[in-house]
Amino acid sequence: MGTAQTPLHDAVIVITGSTSGIGRAMAQELSTLGASIIVNSSNHHDEGQRLASELPHSLYVGGSITEEGFASHFIEEVIQHYGRLDVLINNAATTKVIPHRDLLQADRATWRTIFETNVFATFDLITHAAPHLKESKGQILNVASLAGIRPTGSSIPYAASKAALIHVTTLLAAALAPEVRVNAVAPGLVDTPWTEDWDAVRAQYQRTAPLQRSATPQDVSHLVTALIQTPYLTGAIVPLDGGMGLVR
Ligand SMILES: NC(=O)c1ccc[n+]([C@@H]2O[C@H](COP(=O)([O-])OP(=O)(O)OC[C@H]3O[C@@H](n4cnc5c(N)ncnc54)[C@H](OP(=O)(O)O)[C@@H]3O)[C@@H](O)[C@H]2O)c1
Repeated sequence: MGTAQTPLHDAVIVITGSTSGIGRAMAQELSTLGASIIVNSSNHHDEGQRLASELPHSLYVGGSITEEGFASHFIEEVIQHYGRLDVLINNAATTKVIPHRDLLQADRATWRTIFETNVFATFDLITHAAPHLKESKGQILNVASLAGIRPTGSSIPYAASKAALIHVTTLLAAALAPEVRVNAVAPGLVDTPWTEDWDAVRAQYQRTAPLQRSATPQDVSHLVTALIQTPYLTGAIVPLDGGMGLVR
């Protein structure tokens, strides 16, 4: 891959958790730029099929990234269908809303469930995708969170899982270079079904964030598209928070 903007035309891009919110916006934008998208979700199979049928050359593969054996089956299906993989976007995640002072509610089962999806299953996918990404001189894009950088977020286990994903990003950027670039975005509040009843947090963004609003899913997908198309970038963790990280 040279120094020119990385072309997306004919790129094969896996986006985990792409029937809703940020994942869906990325699927739509990257498809518009000519990429073939592999749409995924653990439920909402009809929605996934419908979205994939609307996007040219795209495919829906249903299943939870946490299922035993899913990562190898998923990547195998992509390679069988397209013969290559250029970008893995790790977007699927889970959380539980727990006030940070309520230590008892953040019990071990909660830590396990959140880390299982946000870190362990995500790393599993990376492991299975890496040989194919090395071959295509491809890249990994992790959807982290401002909660992985600042003392904020829906719960301490969630914030810690995103901090882990951020460090995994920097470690892999070194370990997989020069063939594979690895970057992450770290959004603050984004208006998606995940946060639809987070009115107090939204009001706080409107009041306090320098840009005076929460993000749209499209704000995130524009940044992801730019990072994917920036050939000299690896190991970057890019906050996207309307400046909120500056003020708390
Ligand atoms: N919204 C925010 O304010 C915000 C801020 C910072 C970071 N983020 C991050 O952005 C990413 C997307 O969040 P979002 O707000 O767009 O959420 P969302 O609208 O709830 O979408 C989540 C997507 O992930 C899928 N999914 C969930 N668990 C999955 C699993 N185990 N396997 C496969 N797919 C799964 C969901 O479909 P199914 O339910 O059918 O599985 C859905 O398609 C997450 O990594 C989140 O941590 C969000």
